[in-house]
Amino acid sequence: MAIKRPDGRKQHELREIKAKIDVVPNADGSAMFAFGKTVAIAAVYGPRQLHPQHMQDPSTGILRVNYDLLSFSVGDRKKPGPSRRSSEISKVTEWALEPALDLKAFPNSVIDVQIYILQADAGTRTAGINAASMALAHAGIPMKDLICSVAIGKNDKELIVDLNKEEEDFKEGEGATDFALAKLANSDAFTLMQMDGKIQPELVKEVLKLAAEASKHIYEAQKKALKEVVEENEK
Ligand code: CDP
Repeated sequence: MAIKRPDGRKQHELREIKAKIDVVPNADGSAMFAFGKTVAIAAVYGPRQLHPQHMQDPSTGILRVNYDLLSFSVGDRKKPGPSRRSSEISKVTEWALEPALDLKAFPNSVIDVQIYILQADAGTRTAGINAASMALAHAGIPMKDLICSVAIGKNDKELIVDLNKEEEDFKEGEGATDFALAKLANSDAFTLMQMDGKIQPELVKEVLKLAAEASKHIYEAQKKALKEVVEENEK
């Protein structure tokens, strides 16, 4: 029997995707990515010389991500400033994006990525990673591939794609499980896999399969937005 989702989506259906390039003109590259009511923007600055100088590494550049929820992005106003949660998400976002980059090409340098969540309705780290991947490409930083990110969850018994907040908060039966995943668009290499909750080990393969399937749609939206900006610049 087909399961019912609170917003009427099919079991494996993503929320509506919106993707746009060049939302912060003063940055070297920028993008917006939205899954339904979750809206992320990312701005890239650099590569530029890393300061203070003693942190520079002549053998490689570094990627430095700063993720934050804006105060008005959540139901209860979020206290401004960093938190354990934002530090963790910044770190895992760096790890999720790094495999697409060749940081050794930028000795002594830093690529800064600022990710801000304008509206949060679950899946903010995944939307942020999708926006950041597009912003890095827009900044002209050579990339092996784009990174696509999505959350796969289990709402009591069934696997569902791209949970919204209501689904993430599901508490009946076995409750909700939430996997945040990211992968290179054109290979089977996953660059992020974080889980909150419980899952039967035999279901993990299915989670990866659903993420790979969802990534194809995300990749199409990312490519379309990047193409639009190239066409705009050619006018
Ligand atoms: O956003 P994501 O699913 O990647 O991470 P989470 O830490 O599992 O947060 C899930 C959701 O909880 C967020 O997307 C927000 O909708 C909400 N949240 C909130 O309302 N207030 C916070 N301070 C943090 C998260």
